[in-house]
Amino acid sequence: MTPHNNAKIGEIAKNVLMPGDPLRAKFIAETFLDNIKLVNSVRNMLAYTGTYKGKEITVMASGMGMPSIGIYSYELFNVYGVENIVRVGSSGSYVDKLDVYDVVLADSAWSESTFARTQNGYESDTVYPDKELNEKIIATAKRLGIPLHVEKIHSSDVFYAESNVDGYKEHFAKHGCTCVEMESFALFHNAKVLGKKAACLLTISDSFTSHKVTTPEERQTAFTKMMEIALETFVD
Ligand code: ADE
Repeated sequence: MTPHNNAKIGEIAKNVLMPGDPLRAKFIAETFLDNIKLVNSVRNMLAYTGTYKGKEITVMASGMGMPSIGIYSYELFNVYGVENIVRVGSSGSYVDKLDVYDVVLADSAWSESTFARTQNGYESDTVYPDKELNEKIIATAKRLGIPLHVEKIHSSDVFYAESNVDGYKEHFAKHGCTCVEMESFALFHNAKVLGKKAACLLTISDSFTSHKVTTPEERQTAFTKMMEIALETFVD
């Protein structure tokens, strides 16, 4: 147990699916897993352990932003013996080629965040997911016939940036980031520091170029594709 997680040691699977929203964690567990058990409810950061096609999987929410996923992922890796975390989140698109509902796999995360520097003095502004896990995810998406965009993403610290009107163009022009979310930089960094594996799948929920947005109901359905890829990757 930790100050943030009251699951007992052994109640969390080696493979964890990590959405941001606790209610999405509940939805995923209730929709896709069998034999589910609620193993954490501290701060309502719900975690459920169950089975998918006979394989034990935990779905735990990360909350929003790098400080939040930084805490939960560190504890999962370091205290609970978790080996793999696949984040399943939403993202805003910076480019026309990524439309709402498209599914993205991060092949790197660029950030202006000080998370990694503060955590262990890591100076670079780019971190990477696990290569092998990404290759498995790509192969699974191909097998399922689900198109996947493999992209460099922006992990931002600020959702409501004053520069949002056109500041996003610079993130693409200068750093090559094609979409934005707020967690993967911390997740990938923690995995690297602790010798574990992490990856990030995203569904585009809004677009900075077309200004399209999705409703929570539409997102729930669209996210099923991404969830299938992640779950099937774990049974492979
Ligand atoms: N997640 C989904 N849309 C986002 C956006 N526009 N900015 C940051 N994170 C997001």
